[in-house]
Amino acid sequence: MSRLSWHRLLSISSCAVRSCRMQSVRGVQTPPKLQGKVALVTASTNGIGLAIARRLAQDGARVLLSSRRQQNVDHAVQKLKGEGLDVDGTVCHVGKSEDRERLVNTILDINVKAAFLLVKLVVPKMQERGGGSIVIVSSLAGFTPFPALGPYSVSKTALLGLTKALAPELTQLNIRVNCLAPGLIRTKFSSALWKNESVLEQLTTSLGISRIGEPEDCAGAVSFLCSPDAAYITGETVVVSGGGHSRL
Ligand SMILES: NC(=O)c1ccc[n+]([C@@H]2O[C@H](COP(=O)([O-])OP(=O)(O)OC[C@H]3O[C@@H](n4cnc5c(N)ncnc54)[C@H](OP(=O)(O)O)[C@@H]3O)[C@@H](O)[C@H]2O)c1
Repeated sequence: MSRLSWHRLLSISSCAVRSCRMQSVRGVQTPPKLQGKVALVTASTNGIGLAIARRLAQDGARVLLSSRRQQNVDHAVQKLKGEGLDVDGTVCHVGKSEDRERLVNTILDINVKAAFLLVKLVVPKMQERGGGSIVIVSSLAGFTPFPALGPYSVSKTALLGLTKALAPELTQLNIRVNCLAPGLIRTKFSSALWKNESVLEQLTTSLGISRIGEPEDCAGAVSFLCSPDAAYITGETVVVSGGGHSRL
């Protein structure tokens, strides 16, 4: 598939049809909780995004995967299709320009501006479908800045604020906006931390649950926030950090 813009990506997702799988709850056959939903998961060919995409598909959604590289998209789509899941994929770089001069600009563009612009694009499509659910991925660093990661931490704090600002604006459109704040999760992104045994030990001993998180630890929380079980929840941030200190 060729490289596509967000607009193209959205038009594909809104046209998507999905297959129907039944699931059993206490012996009673019920439709999967995300049946009839289309899930657009950005940055989802690896790590937390991939685990979220897999879980949403397992819960019945038709999922569109995306990330910057065609090769990674193809690989992830093939992998999830091989698991019998209803997914498709396209290339989509969430940032705006390739040539930012300053690191802080790049971080804010990718982490904050891109999230806002993507919400703006997706809202009319959700409106056409009668509503929807948006989950923004922030970080524990948004509550407690990580040492030497100032701009990253500030960008993640901005996403907590973005969630709070968007939620009341979109309730009248039947769109809920919530946020996920992962702590240390075992992915490529965080490998500099967990591959260093002494750093890992130091970090995990300070947690209530003394292990590093796995991407799947985030996926169930996102599926819940997208589901009817969370119909009365908006503007909230779910912290998935094994007890890592969160609130401001
Ligand atoms: N891992 C942690 O400990 C942790 C903790 C707190 C928060 N987070 C947050 O969780 C999110 C996911 O991180 P992760 O740990 O899952 O990272 P990861 O394992 O490195 O995966 C990142 C994914 O995003 C894609 N991607 C990267 N930049 C992109 C861009 N500009 N546009 C579109 N796709 C892009 C990558 O694929 P391509 O290379 O093909 O684009 C890949 O699929 C990030 O927002 C991160 O800040 C992570």
